[in-house]
Amino acid sequence: MQIGVSAGTPAAEPRASDTPPVAVPGLLIGVPKETAPGEKRVATVPDVVQKLVKLGFSVAVESGAGDAANFADDTYRAAGAQVVPTAAEVWSRSDIVFKVRPPSPAEVDALREGATLVGFVWPAQNPELMQQLAARRATVLAIDALPRQLSRAQKMDALTSMAGISGYRAVIEAANAFGRFFNGQVTAAGKIPPARVFIAGAGVAGLAAIGTAANLGAIVRANDTRAEVADQVVSLGGEFVKVDYEEEGSGGGGYAKVMSEGFQQAQREMYAREAKDADIIITTALIPGKPAPKLITAEMVRTMKPGSVIVDMAAEQGGNCELTEPGQAVVKHGVTIIGYTDLVSRLAKQSSTLYSNNLLRLAEELCKGKDGRIDVNMEDDAIRGLTVIKEGEITWPAPPPKLPAAKPPAKPAAVAAAPKAHGHGPGEPMAAKTLAIVFGVGALLFLLVGLFAPASFLAHFTVFVLACFVGYMVVWNVTPSLHTPLMSVTNAISSIIAIGALIQVAPPLAGGTADRPSGLILVLAVLALTLTAINMFGGFAVTRRMLAMFRK
Ligand code: NAI
Repeated sequence: MQIGVSAGTPAAEPRASDTPPVAVPGLLIGVPKETAPGEKRVATVPDVVQKLVKLGFSVAVESGAGDAANFADDTYRAAGAQVVPTAAEVWSRSDIVFKVRPPSPAEVDALREGATLVGFVWPAQNPELMQQLAARRATVLAIDALPRQLSRAQKMDALTSMAGISGYRAVIEAANAFGRFFNGQVTAAGKIPPARVFIAGAGVAGLAAIGTAANLGAIVRANDTRAEVADQVVSLGGEFVKVDYEEEGSGGGGYAKVMSEGFQQAQREMYAREAKDADIIITTALIPGKPAPKLITAEMVRTMKPGSVIVDMAAEQGGNCELTEPGQAVVKHGVTIIGYTDLVSRLAKQSSTLYSNNLLRLAEELCKGKDGRIDVNMEDDAIRGLTVIKEGEITWPAPPPKLPAAKPPAKPAAVAAAPKAHGHGPGEPMAAKTLAIVFGVGALLFLLVGLFAPASFLAHFTVFVLACFVGYMVVWNVTPSLHTPLMSVTNAISSIIAIGALIQVAPPLAGGTADRPSGLILVLAVLALTLTAINMFGGFAVTRRMLAMFRK
């Protein structure tokens, strides 16, 4: 197939000599086989090929590009891609190249002048590559430069999807090297305690590791310098271990900063205690633009139990453990230290699928007209962020994206009805002064009702006020996330009205004066009983299921 788009114009621009009756084919997206040693991922999977074709693009895949990720050439053909025999052909013909790893110098030379390259580029670490790409007048969209804090960008966030996979795989590697079960068991052959897993760094990868290890039944403890992750650790079934030193660890943009010497000392002491207890340590701690912080010293490894495992996910950035050997699994002081740098490639099918979905979302953003053309719109914050070179001009680093002003935290509906001036929310006790005012007003109201209203009204009024008080105390002392199960249980309790129906159905007591209920009343009472029974049992069943979602 001939590519008729002028080399320097990968963006929407009509072809010069098109004959009008023939539909103009879209730009050609090329997918070469990854050449970095050990890299098994492929930038586009057959399912995504189909969707790219629907967007109007043509797709050319190098023969064997998907083999290591279990996507055969035939599946690409069936999805509508051309399978071409050589990498040179993909590079030279494509208007847009989809890649995973940064291209090698030879690959950059093979890139057609003026073409667009999409993939991981790491512009800060690869200044020479940037110059080379700029010299080819390329447009380069670095998926690693995406402004992740934009919620609209999340669907394209390949860093997050890859980190999630490596966190999962780190636990699987640890389980493989560890000689015991993760979950505790009581068997006829003896009692097995659950494995104790400690996770250093609870970012995307750390949280994935916490969830996976907790699901396997281990006792999981985790630490991070950013205190805001504590709730996320707990919600995934872990326990957050705090460093006994007050210092905010957030360095902006959701990332960490280098901590003070005082903090590091306190953190080392805490890690030394955890290392003695842990069967498995998984480290994920990274600080953007800095070498990985050394958190696990050789001395800590020496104190670990023989047979313990460390998976150092920061190995490529120098490692969080002093004894890590990047790319290797080594045994030191009886502890297996895994420093693999290809964790995502070890789940190549999964990671290729998620990565190519991220690129598909990017293609959709670039090709809003679904006509196989792209518009690299520098006014769009997400696109601007990841465009590191535009038509040969280096545009990296992008200015920080304009973020919408932080909204005050949304309050649940129940709170909206609360007296706002009191300045307290659910779960927070009322201030003593406010409480005194409320009681004072209440007492005055009672006095007035007692003086002027009929006695029977006072009794009903008392019940009403007490009900309001009890309801208030119940709702306000329950965590907002539990309000829905609370509503379903109170709904079930409201079935107490069943007592009224029961009284109607029950035969009059021996010697009693009450008449037998008429047929109609009996039918209505039985109907009421049936409905309230559904309400009652259904309400409790729903509550149970909802609460189960909060339990580990
Ligand atoms: P990362 O890979 O740079 O770091 C991993 C973790 O290590 C971080 O949680 C960091 O706080 C922690 N860490 C660094 N130094 C440490 C030390 N000395 N001791 C203990 N822990 C240390 O970060 P990642 O996982 O790529 O993202 C970090 C955070 O960024 C996420 O947890 C999330 O909150 C935020 N983020 C926000 C997004 C958004 O707003 N849409 C998208 C993606 C990430």
